[in-house]
Amino acid sequence: MSFGLSRGRTLITTGFGLDQSDLPPFENGRIDPRDFFDHPEHRLEIEIGTGKGTFLVKQAPLRADINYLGIEKTAEFYRYSADRMRRRSLVNVKILRADATEFIRYWCADAVAAVIHLYFSDPWPKKRHHKRRVIQDRSLQELHRILAPAGEIRLVTDHPDLWAWYEDHAKRNAHLFERQAFDRPESADEGEIVGTNFERKYRREGRPFYAMTLVKRGT
Ligand SMILES: C[S@@+](CC[C@H](N)C(=O)[O-])C[C@H]1O[C@@H](n2cnc3c(N)ncnc32)[C@H](O)[C@@H]1O
Repeated sequence: MSFGLSRGRTLITTGFGLDQSDLPPFENGRIDPRDFFDHPEHRLEIEIGTGKGTFLVKQAPLRADINYLGIEKTAEFYRYSADRMRRRSLVNVKILRADATEFIRYWCADAVAAVIHLYFSDPWPKKRHHKRRVIQDRSLQELHRILAPAGEIRLVTDHPDLWAWYEDHAKRNAHLFERQAFDRPESADEGEIVGTNFERKYRREGRPFYAMTLVKRGT
C-alpha cells in the first residue's frame, strides 16, 4: 500500500536513513545507537513511530547538543522522514527503519537513551490486537534497560482506551517508573502538546489529548 507521500519526487535516505537489514546480526551482540552519529558523546533521545518526522524536524534544530534517533517501521514513512532530514541538512538526526520493539529488545545496548518519545502510537483497538501495542509489561522492562538513570518515556495519545492501558501499565510497573506530568517540548507551537502530524489532524477534529511521563527508577 502506498500513502503517496513522495508526490513523484525521489526520496533520498543516504546519510540519514538506516535499515534494520543493514544492522549486524543480533547474535553478534548488542550495539550502541549513539555510534550512528557524528557526536556519539552527545545525549541520545529516541522517537518510536516517527510517522512523517514532524516532531524530529522541528525539535532537532533547536537542540544541536542532543542526538535524535527516529525508529519507524513503515518503509514509506521512513523514506519520507529521512528525505526531510536530508533536505534540511540536519546533523543530529537519523531514522532507522525497523520494528522498534525488536530493535530495542534484540540489538540495543543498555543505558544509552535519555528520553524515549512515543506520540500517537497506533491504538490497536480490537482486543485480539492489543498485543501489537508498543507499550507492554515486557517492552517496559526493555525500555527501562535501555534508558540511562532518570531517563524518561514520554507518552501522548488521543485514544481513551490506549490511555487507560498506559495508566494500568504505569501502575503495574511503578517499581520501574515513577509517573510524572508531561512537559511540552520546546518545539511545540502555541497551544500544542507536541505538534506532530497526528496531533494536528486530531486537534482539528476536536479530540481530547492525554499525556504522561514515566521516569526510570534505579540505575
Ligand atoms: C499513528 S502514527 C503516529 C505518527 C507520529 N508519531 C505522529 O504523531 O504524527 C504511528 C506510527 O508509528 C509507526 N509504528 C507503529 N508501531 C511501530 C513499531 N513497533 N516500531 C516502529 N514504528 C512503529 C507506524 O508505522 C506509524 O507511522
